[in-house]
Amino acid sequence: MTLAVLSFPDADATRRFGVQLGKYLPPLTTLLLEGDLGSGKTTLVQGIGEGLGIAEAIVSPTFTLINEYLEGRVPLYHFDLYRLHPDEIEELQPEVYWEGTEVRPGITAIEWSERLSYLPKAYVRIRLQHEDTALQVEVSAVGTVSDDIKACFEGV
Ligand SMILES: Nc1ncnc2c1ncn2[C@@H]1O[C@H](COP(=O)(O)OP(=O)(O)O)[C@@H](O)[C@H]1O
Ligand SMILES: [Mg+2]
Repeated sequence: MTLAVLSFPDADATRRFGVQLGKYLPPLTTLLLEGDLGSGKTTLVQGIGEGLGIAEAIVSPTFTLINEYLEGRVPLYHFDLYRLHPDEIEELQPEVYWEGTEVRPGITAIEWSERLSYLPKAYVRIRLQHEDTALQVEVSAVGTVSDDIKACFEGV
């Protein structure tokens, strides 16, 4: 189900969209981010961190695999699967984060989620693609995404 189709002319617009999400998204939100290198996935997650009130700089966890930010309104768990093989991704046990059973329930944002070999039951898929003059962002709910989560994408 498509929740929103958005267009952001520059990186700051993308970041501001992230800030809105960081202010309102509830715990146990999973965001699966799809898009080429340089499409703006990390920029969006940086905005989310800002909206959550995380002061620490958010950098792509390309080498650390997962970054946990626990100081904001809700924990942020940030993955980047770009360099990983499927068996390494399974070892990461991303479900521990999106199910929130052994960690504090938070927002899980996964860059290069195309590489996951299994998916959460419910998630928000965010596809980013540069068009001629702007970044096109398509937001979809997959599975039974809560109304609280959906509401965050209405009127953005
Ligand atoms: N509309 C836009 N939204 C996001 N980033 C943009 C936009 N226009 C240009 N950019 C630039 O594109 C790059 C996106 O990088 P990044 O967010 O790290 O992408 P990714 O994580 O998808 O590889 C940044 O240098 C950013 O300044
Ligand atoms: Mg990135």
